[in-house]
Amino acid sequence: MTDITPFQPSDYEEAIALWQRTEGVTLRSADSCEAVLQYLKRNPGSSFVAREQDTLVAAVLGGHDGRRGYLHHLAVAPTHRGRGIGRALAERVLTALGTQGIHKCHLMVRADNADALAFWAHIGWAQRADLVIMSRTDPIAANA
Ligand SMILES: CC(C)(COP(=O)(O)OP(=O)(O)OC[C@H]1O[C@@H](n2cnc3c(N)ncnc32)[C@H](O)[C@@H]1OP(=O)(O)O)[C@@H](O)C(=O)NCCC(=O)NCCS
Repeated sequence: MTDITPFQPSDYEEAIALWQRTEGVTLRSADSCEAVLQYLKRNPGSSFVAREQDTLVAAVLGGHDGRRGYLHHLAVAPTHRGRGIGRALAERVLTALGTQGIHKCHLMVRADNADALAFWAHIGWAQRADLVIMSRTDPIAANA
């Protein structure tokens, strides 16, 4: 049985281990333990993990800026893919954001991650052709 529960600080070590071994998840200093715990504190109840027999098998971060939602780092362990866990975690994020009045959510996918793009399209997310992401990094915060 798969248990989906809100992401707790105690889930961090297993989640980062999963993200580190998952192709398609790019980690930065914003994924340090301190940074993720700060993210969870700022966005309570909208990030989730899935466990089977106490082992973390999937994780996702979700939050919002007061206007739009953002979903990050959805990853399911290869041994547990194709069983609806990825869809269920994404839906949990959207439901949690919806209860907070946030009804539109964005996510970023590497352009070369064809599998993820196909997955998101399959579960109802629209790929935007009308937008380009632009970023600027504080020069003193390398790898942010
Ligand atoms: C993408 C990922 C999260 C999907 O998780 P998953 O648990 O295997 O997906 P689910 O079982 O919930 O699939 C839900 C639906 O999407 C479909 N789907 C899953 N992967 C797909 C793919 N690569 N292409 C097309 N459809 C896909 C499933 O067939 C299923 O369809 P159905 O409900 O109509 O039967 C998982 O493959 C993963 O962790 N990939 C590596 C990390 C990554 O790239 N994450 C995205 C970062 S943006």
